[in-house]
Amino acid sequence: MENGRKASSLRWGILRRALIPSSSSTASDEQSEKGIKRISRKANQGFSLIPFRLVDNAKLEHKEVISPSLPKATEACVCYTLPNHNATELFLYQRVDNHANLEDFKICNTFDIDNTGLVCSWPSEEVLAYHCLSQLDLFRCKRVIELGSGYGLAGLLVAAVTEALEVVISDGNPQVVDYIQRNINANSSVFGCTKVKSMMLHWNHEELSDISNSFDIIIASDCTFFKEFHKGLVQTIKCLLKKEGHSEAIFLGPKRGNSLDEFLLEVKESGLQFTVNEIYNSEVWRRHESFVNGDTSWPNYEKDHCYPLLVRITL
Ligand SMILES: C[S@@+](CC[C@H](N)C(=O)[O-])C[C@H]1O[C@@H](n2cnc3c(N)ncnc32)[C@H](O)[C@@H]1O
Repeated sequence: MENGRKASSLRWGILRRALIPSSSSTASDEQSEKGIKRISRKANQGFSLIPFRLVDNAKLEHKEVISPSLPKATEACVCYTLPNHNATELFLYQRVDNHANLEDFKICNTFDIDNTGLVCSWPSEEVLAYHCLSQLDLFRCKRVIELGSGYGLAGLLVAAVTEALEVVISDGNPQVVDYIQRNINANSSVFGCTKVKSMMLHWNHEELSDISNSFDIIIASDCTFFKEFHKGLVQTIKCLLKKEGHSEAIFLGPKRGNSLDEFLLEVKESGLQFTVNEIYNSEVWRRHESFVNGDTSWPNYEKDHCYPLLVRITL
């Protein structure tokens, strides 16, 4: 376990370094730009598929969701405007950069989890959300769960713009789950008839009998690089997917050396079926090609660590 934990801290460090930008991006509003950099070092790079802006806390209508226990400077609210959906807005509360604290590490040790969900909303999450936007019919009348959601952009988007019956947004880090719940509260007015809830779900430790055989669709982004959790993650998928009808898991995440391949080996050994798709969305692919061909807005872009592949898993 000790070794496993060291390995995951190391991977987290690598992941963080790989995504920290070395130069600033170009936003017209300098104040907002500064704020955005503090929210998440990732936020001013990534694929820039869904426009977002930093919200001035003072102007927020749903002030009750700002945690009274946290000094204002430790968190911020980002507003995403969903393309082609009557400018529907989603508000996501996030940690401000550089505010990891000792309590975080205590929680990580206690819950056998890492901190990556608090670091930022990772680029694959935005791609997953964008991909879901192009698949609205897939979710109609379906029960959906997001695993390892971090701040939950994709799950919130599915809840807001599709006619899903239910969306459960889950993570194995209790601090992340607090954010998920607050983000659900902040956006409840746009969910229509879709039931939305947060859930603490750790792939290795949770007792799943209450929710086994319950979900038509599982979504997840950037969750396959924790080798020590591959088995638990695969068993979680196997248990949660409905046995009758068409059910599937939709994962987006970079290859990251051999970690995706090792995850897929585990998928295969467990008897599940899968497909891997590199070009699943023309706009995402177009942006990938532009980063590879000299667009410097994502300075250290590198396919293996940054471009998310689409993996679909079925029973
Ligand atoms: C790299 S982050 C990705 C978060 C989010 N999907 C995104 O792309 O922004 C990995 C997420 O998986 C969660 N996670 C890691 N190990 C887990 C486990 N064993 N069970 C449940 N969640 C886990 C972390 O708390 C974190 O939120």
